[in-house]
Amino acid sequence: MPNPTAKILDGKALAAQFKEDMQQEVQHLVASYGRAPGLAVIIVGDDPASHVYVKNKKIACEKVGIKSFSHELAHTTTQEHLLGLLAELNRNPKVDGILVQLPLPAHIDADYVLKAIASHKDVDGFHPYNVGCLAVRQPELRSCTPYGCMKLLETTGVDLHGKEAVIVGASNIVGRPMALELLLAGVTVTIAHRFTENLQAHVERADIVVAAAGKQGLVQGSWIKQGAIVIDVGIHRLEDGTLTGDVDFAEASKRAAWITPVPGGVGPMTITMLLANTIQAFRTHVGDESTA
Ligand code: GUN
Repeated sequence: MPNPTAKILDGKALAAQFKEDMQQEVQHLVASYGRAPGLAVIIVGDDPASHVYVKNKKIACEKVGIKSFSHELAHTTTQEHLLGLLAELNRNPKVDGILVQLPLPAHIDADYVLKAIASHKDVDGFHPYNVGCLAVRQPELRSCTPYGCMKLLETTGVDLHGKEAVIVGASNIVGRPMALELLLAGVTVTIAHRFTENLQAHVERADIVVAAAGKQGLVQGSWIKQGAIVIDVGIHRLEDGTLTGDVDFAEASKRAAWITPVPGGVGPMTITMLLANTIQAFRTHVGDESTA
């Protein structure tokens, strides 16, 4: 059988298109309501990768006209101090969205902190209320990475109903909400995780593979079913500086119909959905029910 080369799911291009539309949308909102949507971004400590992510989020906000409020806190910040700041931001009428960059230092209970964000300002979609809303098919603010993956899947034009998806990784921020998104879209979903026996057998029958284990090259190209859609959420920097994902891209792209590259696949969509969520939170906040 000939080996067609997979089509690329270009997250960078899709994100650029979304951002252009959101820029227009924000201009209209400013004209109607006299202020731009506001996103508060909190980072605790000096993890270099987290600082890069936060910087990119702020740049993306500026690009579409969302106002970002930065809170860079020392590694030694207490949980009480962080909770106090969140209480203030929850009350602040100029703040529509709040994001606490993860990971937090070990002395802070991240689960507790995330629950202290007002659910209507939880633009990461991590609050148990928002995850629960998705679980009961009433999505409000949706987790950004899975939401971005769904937007990428939409661009394939493939009818997802009844397809078999295997998600590799069961994290709170990707694997679990991704399963809920796919379930909502009528997909038959399996979540594989660290205790899963015979990962290969699961991946081999998947029409849709979402790799989100955080393990470089975990998903071998030879496991991919002919014609599958492959979404790679992993991102790893190799010693030579190149970025790569959880999937063996070179081999997988000989078998898949569609595949996301790393970088330029899921990553740009995550930030874009954060902006979309901030605009959605703004609309809820000001009582605007219309869509742009
Ligand atoms: N750390 C890694 N990914 C994310 C994300 O999507 N949001 C936040 N807040 N922290 C992260």
